[in-house]
Amino acid sequence: MQDNNLTNPNESILNEDSSTSSIRPLKFDDFLGQDNIKSKLKVFIESAKKREVALDHILFFGPPGLGKTTLSQIIASELGTNIKATSAPVIERAGDLASILTTLQEKDVLFIDEIHRLRTVVEEVLYSAMEDFFVDIKVGEGASAKSFRVKLPHFTLIGATTRSGLLSTPLYDRFGIIERLEFYTDNNLADIVKRNALLLKIQITDDAALSIAKRSRGTPRIVNRLLRRVFDFATVSNVLTIDENFANDSLEQLGVDKQGFEALDKLYLNTIIKNYNGGPVGVDTLSVSLSEQIETIEDVIEPYLIQSGFIKRTAKGRVATLKAYSYLNIRKNYDDNYNIEENTLFDNAKE
Ligand SMILES: Nc1ncnc2c1ncn2[C@@H]1O[C@H](COP(=O)(O)OP(=O)(O)OP(=O)(O)O)[C@@H](O)[C@H]1O
Ligand SMILES: [Mg+2]
Repeated sequence: MQDNNLTNPNESILNEDSSTSSIRPLKFDDFLGQDNIKSKLKVFIESAKKREVALDHILFFGPPGLGKTTLSQIIASELGTNIKATSAPVIERAGDLASILTTLQEKDVLFIDEIHRLRTVVEEVLYSAMEDFFVDIKVGEGASAKSFRVKLPHFTLIGATTRSGLLSTPLYDRFGIIERLEFYTDNNLADIVKRNALLLKIQITDDAALSIAKRSRGTPRIVNRLLRRVFDFATVSNVLTIDENFANDSLEQLGVDKQGFEALDKLYLNTIIKNYNGGPVGVDTLSVSLSEQIETIEDVIEPYLIQSGFIKRTAKGRVATLKAYSYLNIRKNYDDNYNIEENTLFDNAKE
């Protein structure tokens, strides 16, 4: 039985929105791709069930939209336990976490999203809870303050983060299972498109599914969004079956190019190359130039650009690779001069 209690009712963690909750996979068989992680998790879950113990604590990390929240839900459902979900920024005080922990039942899953953002005082409560299953609850202030030790049921903490590097060592070390989610292959994403098309009663050819997949930056959340937008175009044009040409035309109109790059990705690459001569340039400087938060740059824009070889992260800052120059159709000059007209740069970037 699922009890999707959220600590903050405004914070919808398990159901992103109504349009995605209907297609969110609920079992491993529907969670396509990430085969390596899935097969390990199946073993760990079976072992915990056989031994009748709580599954060890799990940390999932990786770029946004790759399935960390979805996998956590699937794990609880495969374990047959409740899942309680919350997010680190909403746990303000140690007492907030203590009160969540004390409502857990034996073998329940506690899901904490954005776990790298836990406050230190809250994190310290988690240490004893994770390792020895107790919390010390302080009552009162100053000299009259008293502390009670409360035993907790054996539970499984699943932490999700886009930044494992920001976790403190004591917290990181308390996770028994640590898995990094990787970007998906085009074929995996095409399978996700086809599964979702079936659920949403959208008719689409295999070629069109692959075409949407190729423009989705290795990310299921993006593939789902693009499928829905292409479907909007099909609905308005009275197109019954989405084929490759129709998908490509719609995606071009949406401003998504063959690489899956959208306006912000192109602006990011153009900024490094045109304003900073290809780099190295620091992320704080880029943040000012692009008027984007450092977190957005590091978590949303860069991971795929790095993975697909368009930029490199060096000790001195970000550097555009030759692939980025050729994508923007800019010849790499070593004397700081660009002998290409401004307009051509942006026109080519749209392709
Ligand atoms: N392997 C998969 N197969 C099918 N659909 C998937 C898969 N992984 C993710 N999805 C879909 O992609 C969307 C994003 O997944 P999810 O919310 O789990 O990502 P996340 O890693 O938790 O992202 P964030 O870091 O932003 O919280 C969901 O709507 C989910 O249905
Ligand atoms: Mg999530």
